[in-house]
Amino acid sequence: MKVLVTRRLLPGVLDALEGCIVGVWEGDGPMPRSELMTRVGEAEGLLSMLTDRIDRELLDAAPRLRVVSQMAVGVDNIDLQACTTRGIPVGHTPGVLTETTADTAWALLAAAVRRLPEGRDHVRAGRWGPWDPGLLLGGDLFDTTLGIVGLGRIGAAVARRASGFGMRVLYAGPHRKPHLEAELRVAYRSLADLLAESDHVVLTAPLTSETRHLIGLDELRLMKSDATLVNVARGGLVDHEALYEALVEGWIGRAALDVTEPEPIPADHPLVGLPNCLIIPHLGSASVRTRRAMAELAVENLRRGLRGEPLVHCANPEVESRRGVT
Ligand code: DGY
Repeated sequence: MKVLVTRRLLPGVLDALEGCIVGVWEGDGPMPRSELMTRVGEAEGLLSMLTDRIDRELLDAAPRLRVVSQMAVGVDNIDLQACTTRGIPVGHTPGVLTETTADTAWALLAAAVRRLPEGRDHVRAGRWGPWDPGLLLGGDLFDTTLGIVGLGRIGAAVARRASGFGMRVLYAGPHRKPHLEAELRVAYRSLADLLAESDHVVLTAPLTSETRHLIGLDELRLMKSDATLVNVARGGLVDHEALYEALVEGWIGRAALDVTEPEPIPADHPLVGLPNCLIIPHLGSASVRTRRAMAELAVENLRRGLRGEPLVHCANPEVESRRGVT
């Protein structure tokens, strides 16, 4: 069984694939497309990253491929339909990264609301003078309203943490989730109402054709003028040009982004230089423990797919039900 791994992983996680590996990309960045296109030809299993575009062209170059296993929960880089048509199950890694990503959302929210990056810049620039009652005043977390867009696993974990801050929590999404409303003490709103009522908005929805640019000019105009927008999902959820206008014109107070479009965002992108926009390089799940758990789960999905067994988490389960794999 031949497996191609598109990125170097933490030591030891590939041991379970010993004897199967036809290639691990050892370069510093993602595996170049040309390299991937060539090497995927002999692969029966592909362990992919969110930076690899798995489209029809690639699948056409991979006639022996029997399973794709992505080390991420998001699979918007993968043409799921094309994989399904070819009977290729696509594994992904939900669950193991939920809490770490929720922690990151809160870290971004707190840092942005309390203007921590500006405070650090202030100290580094040697501008810290005597205590100033008006210096870098920010917003509050305690006793405010948090709006969560997309109440999936990560959204729910973000909501759970809000009780410690005495927050009222709203959520929006394609479906109401009554069973979670009581458990998490969250209330459903349309997206427009959530944006208008929330002091802080956290995006945790997946990127699909329906959610691309979910937050654009019209939506930003609905938000409170001191609101915070946090994105730990995918950059494509937000129209970045609109966000720039909103931050400069003061339609909203601040933004904190773990994800951008494109990634990496160029250092000279207008958003990067704004003092009220905190951007970090897609670190949502970046704890040692969680990245190891993601890699191990991706390896397990791959092994199962190669053996024709159901994956632990399959993003296109119709392939498995069609094949009678349960
Ligand atoms: C994912 O898993 O989709 C994240 O974006 C990376 O942790």
